[in-house]
Amino acid sequence: MDAIECIRTRRSIRGFRTDPVSKDALSEVVETAMWSPSYKNSQPWEVMVLSGSKKKELSKYMVELFEKGTPPCPDIPEPVTWPKTEGARIADLFRKRTEVSGIDLNAPEILKKAKVANFNFYRAPHAIYLFQDSSLTPWSLFDIGLFAQSLMLAAHAKGLGTVPQAFATDYAHNIKDFLNIPASKKLVLGISIGYPDPASPVNAFRTDRVETDEIVTWIE
Ligand SMILES: Cc1cc2nc3c(=O)[nH]c(=O)nc-3n(C[C@H](O)[C@H](O)[C@H](O)COP(=O)(O)O)c2cc1C
Repeated sequence: MDAIECIRTRRSIRGFRTDPVSKDALSEVVETAMWSPSYKNSQPWEVMVLSGSKKKELSKYMVELFEKGTPPCPDIPEPVTWPKTEGARIADLFRKRTEVSGIDLNAPEILKKAKVANFNFYRAPHAIYLFQDSSLTPWSLFDIGLFAQSLMLAAHAKGLGTVPQAFATDYAHNIKDFLNIPASKKLVLGISIGYPDPASPVNAFRTDRVETDEIVTWIE
C-alpha cells in the first residue's frame, strides 16, 4: 500500500482480535513513528506499551475509578464547548452513528458504556500511552500529534488497527502513579492497538469528511 492509500484507508478500530501482536511488530511501528518531524528535532515523545496482566490491571483500576464517580483529571482538559463549525461536525458524527446503530449515543447509559469500553482499550491486546515533559510548549504537543499519526499509519500498513483515545487519559494522575511515571510528565494520549476483528460491527462504521472547499482557500 502506498502512502496515499495508507492515509486514506486508516480508520479508528474499536473491535480487536484477542491474539497479541509480536514485540518485533510493535517495535517496528514505534520505530517508524520516530521518523516523524519535530520542532528542532527535539523528538518530544515518550512511549509506554502495555500488554498482558499490567494492561488488564490498569483497565480494571480505571473502571473502578469511573464507577466510584471519581472526577476525570486528564492532563489535557477535555473541551467543554466547541466553536460552531466544529460543533456542527461533531453533532453530525453523532447523528450518523446513531442512525447506523439505532442507539442514541447521547443517552447517559450509552455514554457510560462507551467510557468503560475506552478504559478497557476496546479489548485490544495492547495499549500505548504517549507522554511528554510538562514544561514543553504547545509546539511539542503538535509534534507528538504527528508522532501519533505516524504510529497509527505504520500500524495500518502492517495490518494492525488502532484508535487514539483521549478518554484513556481521564485519570492521568492515577495512571501515572500506577505506571511509575513522574508527575512532571504530561499524559497526552492513549492508543489501543491490535489486529482488527473483521466481524466486529463497530468497525463497519466509516466517518466522512467535509468538502475540500469548506477548508481550503486557493489564492493566486
Ligand atoms: C486526539 C484524539 C482523541 C480521540 N479520543 C477518542 C476517544 O477517547 N475514544 C474514541 O473511541 N475515539 C477517540 N478518537 C477517535 C475519533 O473519534 C476519530 O478519529 C474520528 O471520529 C474520525 O474517525 P476515524 O479515525 O475513523 O477517521 C480520538 C481522536 C483523536 C485525534
